Amino acid sequence: MDLPQTTTEPTSYVHDRETADDSLAFLRDGYAYGTRRFERFGTDAFRTRLLGRPTVVVHGREAAAMFYDPRSMTRAGAIPTSVAHLLQDDGSVQTLEDAAHDHRKAAFLRLLGDAEAARMAEASGRAWAAAAAREAGRTRSLYDLGVEVLTRAALEWTGLPAGSADPRRLAGPLAEMVDAAARVGPRNWIARLRRRRVERWAEAVLGMVRDGELEVPAGSPISVVAGLHDHDGSQPPLDIAAVELINLLRPIVAVARYVAFTGHALERHPHWRETLRGDAAARHRFVQEVRRFYPFFPVIAGTVRRGFTWREHEFEVGKRVVLDLYATNHDERIWTHPGRFDPDRFITWVYDPDALVPQGGGDAATGHRCPGEGATIALMERFLEFATADPAPYTVPPQDLRISLRRIPALPQDRMLVTLAE
Ligand code: HEM
Repeated sequence: MDLPQTTTEPTSYVHDRETADDSLAFLRDGYAYGTRRFERFGTDAFRTRLLGRPTVVVHGREAAAMFYDPRSMTRAGAIPTSVAHLLQDDGSVQTLEDAAHDHRKAAFLRLLGDAEAARMAEASGRAWAAAAAREAGRTRSLYDLGVEVLTRAALEWTGLPAGSADPRRLAGPLAEMVDAAARVGPRNWIARLRRRRVERWAEAVLGMVRDGELEVPAGSPISVVAGLHDHDGSQPPLDIAAVELINLLRPIVAVARYVAFTGHALERHPHWRETLRGDAAARHRFVQEVRRFYPFFPVIAGTVRRGFTWREHEFEVGKRVVLDLYATNHDERIWTHPGRFDPDRFITWVYDPDALVPQGGGDAATGHRCPGEGATIALMERFLEFATADPAPYTVPPQDLRISLRRIPALPQDRMLVTLAE
């Protein structure tokens, strides 16, 4: 199979001299791992070994299009189990391909359409107001506060009756699934144990919904997940439905990281505050720039499932390919002055699915692109509305605002502390 190729870019080939295992270098360089090497080799792609396996690391708009072509890659076996078990797990939409994937994915896309994203954002607005009242006068990190607020919003949005889910017990384990994904050793094991508990809770709740023992609103996300059917007409077992419920809850809570980054951007660029207060379009641009600029998932890994040639390089079945999302979001062939935080770059931006890729590239319906982009944006915009209100809901105390690119996933050093207004 040949995927579309272009010859317009000078740096078009794969640096094809395999190096020694680069896993330690990846840990050392963090988000900058790929960028350093793309610059050193002057290519879009290079061959190396990661965790003992030959791997091609790629970046750029055309690499993203290649990687997100639904014919080329599967996620199966591409990432270590320590990461997989926290972020996706067996049987989830991310592990499916072709008709099975597209059918399950359609359910996610219906659940996360514009009206649903708006409903979720409204729930988060109420939760921010409640948190501001509850925490008045206290200093908290925007990250921790965001985790609590978004857990409440997520549970309300799903339609779970109060009493069937305790946000205080769920917030920590849901946040840990992302926080500990890149860790090895005890922190990762503990997060996996806590995830098992959330899975058991989700199975129990979904079982009660299926059996009619727990009444939930018709058409609500919880009833849709409980009633999921696959492309062959079968109903996924409860453990798979539980994984998919967590696939909704975990990433909503993960938006707390973007909340912290949005607060960080506001603090670093205070002249935006006034504009953002009354201008929804400006809030949208600001949020897009936060998603482009700040480090979240550094890379996505896939395994070649049908051999193809790209940039004169053979990608054989079974080979691992890593798409560098962070490098693509900072690729100067796509973004002018990529290291500058500039929301106005989105005034003239023409949507390109493979250029802005913090949540993946390609087409969400047929590939693995995130179905939650609209919801993420709506939640971030809602937070921005809260944060820029007059009078200001918080002040920012002295703290360490640095963000280390060596820590995956990244956060401001003090998790973005704020003091809530009295
Ligand atoms: C915090 C912000 C978010 C980030 C940075 C993010 C990032 C991503 C990325 C990079 C992928 C692609 C993975 C791949 O190519 O294998 C993805 C997939 C996915 N995301 Fe998100 N996401 C976010 C929010 C959300 C939200 C709010 C939801 C749902 C409520 C969601 C649900 C999913 C699901 C179900 C998939 C798997 C899709 C598939 O395999 O077809 N994400 N996300």
